[in-house]
Amino acid sequence: MKKISIRTSSPYEVIIERGSISKCGEYIKNVTDSRRVAVITDDIVCSLYSDTVIESLENNGFECILFSFPNGEQSKNLKTLGKIFDFLCVNNITRSDIVVALGGGVVGDIAGFASACYLRGIDFVQIPTTLLAQVDSSVGGKTAVDISGGKNLVGAFRQPKLVICDSDTLKTLTPDILSCGMAEVIKYGMIRDEKLFEKLESHSLENVDEIMDDIVYTCIDIKRDVVEGDEFDRGERMILNFGHTLGHAIEGWHNYNNYTHGMGVAVGMCMITDKFAPELSERLKKCLTAYCLPTETEAPVGELLPYCSKDKKRTSGSISYIVCRTVGKAEIVKTSLADFEKIMGE
Ligand code: GLY
Repeated sequence: MKKISIRTSSPYEVIIERGSISKCGEYIKNVTDSRRVAVITDDIVCSLYSDTVIESLENNGFECILFSFPNGEQSKNLKTLGKIFDFLCVNNITRSDIVVALGGGVVGDIAGFASACYLRGIDFVQIPTTLLAQVDSSVGGKTAVDISGGKNLVGAFRQPKLVICDSDTLKTLTPDILSCGMAEVIKYGMIRDEKLFEKLESHSLENVDEIMDDIVYTCIDIKRDVVEGDEFDRGERMILNFGHTLGHAIEGWHNYNNYTHGMGVAVGMCMITDKFAPELSERLKKCLTAYCLPTETEAPVGELLPYCSKDKKRTSGSISYIVCRTVGKAEIVKTSLADFEKIMGE
């Protein structure tokens, strides 16, 4: 087992261990006095892992209730959030109880946001079951839902009490969901760690499992370092959004339908790199292709820019975006929205 301590305003640990979901009750017992747990998950993860998680929790003296919603980004909205609040309320979940978010990024984001708001905040634990959630969204305390104006536009910062990463759960991922997580992994290599990037270049989607434990640890450790330095996303944390401004726009253009977050991020990283560091583009694209990720989009740039103007990283009239001019180093560039549109449209 490996542990990473996250020293944010409310500190916690990330446990990285194969098979850890079957021991989650033991670990959760150490971070709460509560004996009641609301497990929030989606229908796919529910059928795969909820029995294991609930058995471990019950064996460790917890009483469990379970809420499941349909898998997918389309569920990450105010309607599902309302249903979660009603579920917590009807089941008399109090401030001394705890929520367990069991699933991928959608589950972690919405269950985390429900925990941040319900009774003005109750404790929660993340058990991420996708690569994207393990290396990115479960760590760092960003929680959110989507609204019609855009992705993650309503949310809160709330750190979990504990994160339990079991890389055995990645074995049940479909190749497209594994690829989706690999886009974030490649992002970490690009923004902070050339050695990680080289390791990724010497593998592909077929054999990445050989280095998965190493990848998960390295990415979470990078995220730890960035989040500890800028918990509330006012400065350096923005580098984690390399490829995301255009990525979210492409996802939006596809109505979040049959187009994963990772695909958007992959193309977003390529579009920015094509403009600002064209000499790096080929290397980046080769790596993305090895993990079955796209490097271009059919969406016309002109149709993507209106989505970018709604990006969270905009301030009035200007936008911040991330550029990597060498592998392993990222910089935040701030320009007027008009200049960004001009550069991208050229
Ligand atoms: N996923 C980007 C961040 O946590 O800041």
